Amino acid sequence: MEQQAKKRIYSAIQPSGMLTLGNYLGALRNWVAMQEEYDCIYTVADLHAITVRQEPAKLRKQILETYALLMAVGIDPEKSLLFIQSHVAAHSQLSWLLSCYTQFGELSRMTQFKDKSAKHADNINAGLFSYPALMAADILLYQADMVPVGADQKQHLEITRDIANRMNNLYPNVFTVPEPYIPKIGARVMSLQEPTQKMSKSDPNVNAWVAILDKPDDIMRKFKRAVTDSDACVRYAEGKDGINNLMDIYSAVTGKNYQEIEKEFDGKGYGDFKLAVGEAVVDALRPVQDRFYDLMNNRDMLETTWRSSAEQAEAIARRTLGKVMKKIGFIY
Ligand code: TRP
Repeated sequence: MEQQAKKRIYSAIQPSGMLTLGNYLGALRNWVAMQEEYDCIYTVADLHAITVRQEPAKLRKQILETYALLMAVGIDPEKSLLFIQSHVAAHSQLSWLLSCYTQFGELSRMTQFKDKSAKHADNINAGLFSYPALMAADILLYQADMVPVGADQKQHLEITRDIANRMNNLYPNVFTVPEPYIPKIGARVMSLQEPTQKMSKSDPNVNAWVAILDKPDDIMRKFKRAVTDSDACVRYAEGKDGINNLMDIYSAVTGKNYQEIEKEFDGKGYGDFKLAVGEAVVDALRPVQDRFYDLMNNRDMLETTWRSSAEQAEAIARRTLGKVMKKIGFIY
């Protein structure tokens, strides 16, 4: 194993274009914070995106926007690697190798596969099934020590660990076995319309979720309409899911704790509170949006940046790929 001063973190996000306030407060702000302490490698997972059918022009636009948005939230390519998955061929190459060490039975147990194949019954392709082998390749190529994952990706990290351990038994020390990273901060943002469910961009009710790029008027409207309860008192308590969610969001963007928030809104109604949360979110997203539009006007700079990161990533990835191929028995 190569000597590393800092522990290495790997994570990736699919280019879905419409990243939400939930993605921002739950995951991306952590990605930014982790840059100070760890050696971070972040990827726009475009290869994963084609497991469901994509329209070419739209996919291209979403890859570009996701990349720019990651820079806009504060991923700094001077500190971390930030590249597009398909630009480093080793991801596809290692994925094939790993898929030959991944069992049909274990892939069949993946809940995301079961969910997605039910949702896209007309396109249950082999990529959708072997998706975890590609995700394992992403992580293992860089010998990552830790992977920050939400609940929905936990099972995929588990199978990555199983694959790594299996390969290590056959070919000693070929991979670092990654640990899940549980972030210190990170709000779990719930739907504004059904606050018992996670905020999701696939929710057909657009008032249920806020996109990072939503216009201020839209953000305000969504918060004004947020579902609450009939208690009319701003306090954090069991059963007050809507208010709890708004308090979590307000706390995440202002840094205030529950007690301070309860005091601030003592004697005030939900209307005032919702306005304050909306305004605080608008204020928090404004600089991100400004940076995003600046970056989108500077395509050359984006391209130079992703190329340089991909070259550095490639150097690491090829070393791992070469090692794996030699151990398996290829003439490398
Ligand atoms: N599958 C992840 C998702 O849909 C994205 C992803 C791809 C990923 N490769 C990864 C996450 C490696 C963590 C590590 O959210």
